[in-house]
Amino acid sequence: MSKPKILVAREIFPEMITYLERHFEVEANQQDESWSKSQLIEKLQGKDGAFTTGGDRIDAEVLAACPGLKICANMAVGYNNFDLDAMTAAGVLATNAPDVLTETTADFGFALLMATARRISESEHFLRAGKWTKWSFDMFAGSDVHGSTLGILGMGRIGQGIAKRGAHGFGMKVIYHNRSRLDAALEAECKASYASKEELLRTADHVVLVLPYSPASHHTIGASELAMMKPTATLVNIARGGIVDDAALAVALREKRIAAAGLDVFEGEPKVHPDLLTVPNVVLTPHIASATVPTRLAMAKLAADNLIGFFKENKPLTPLNPAVLATK
Ligand code: GLV
Repeated sequence: MSKPKILVAREIFPEMITYLERHFEVEANQQDESWSKSQLIEKLQGKDGAFTTGGDRIDAEVLAACPGLKICANMAVGYNNFDLDAMTAAGVLATNAPDVLTETTADFGFALLMATARRISESEHFLRAGKWTKWSFDMFAGSDVHGSTLGILGMGRIGQGIAKRGAHGFGMKVIYHNRSRLDAALEAECKASYASKEELLRTADHVVLVLPYSPASHHTIGASELAMMKPTATLVNIARGGIVDDAALAVALREKRIAAAGLDVFEGEPKVHPDLLTVPNVVLTPHIASATVPTRLAMAKLAADNLIGFFKENKPLTPLNPAVLATK
């Protein structure tokens, strides 16, 4: 029997291509060319499946133009690049890559919080520019992390990982807001208590955003939410671009209406709002929260295993629209 044909839409670890080739006829974008939607559609012709990353948009137009497509396996936990309803309607399975990145991403969220509160980037730029000529009492004085109040918006697995780091490692008081409240045992494990979004914004010293992007979470943090925060507070976004109104955030940072921000994700990335590039009190990183070699390998392997499980036994590991499987 001939092997199913798959497209790997972005460059990935060469050993993963070798792994996939044991099961599939693979066309891979190892030159990492950036494809337009029409090029992606062209590449998907005759393919049974796709290995995608968070930047590869699979929507109704792509699905209509690629009737042979049966599965898209995302090498990301977030899947706002998928129009899941359209995929379900077209009978195309969607999978993501949860769990394997939880601790790595929580580490990064905490690192960004620390860098933001303690002004690590700003002070490094100052030093590199040769401006450090003397000690001064308030040079890059930031805010404390230990013992402060940590507010987490979005308390899934990664949010819980950040809560545990804050509560157990840094003696922080942890409050959280989520669509649904955690059960008591999980709250106790995370030493976290539930708060309304407004109470969280008004009382937290450090606010970390870890909620998934959807039209409903678009601009969860805009000018009015920023106005609720303490002028000494910091904001960290490791969730998705679009959850924060970046233009409003740049104004709040410039006017010191909040102390500082740490951003790993941006509206319209890889473009960054130009005003964010000119304010000093923001730490900017290029969407790397899950980027350690072992974790990126594990994410790629999970996406590959979803493809293998689906084509071998109709048993993907982490399906997002499992109803589609019943129709196969
Ligand atoms: C990264 O942002 C992911 O969703 O995995």
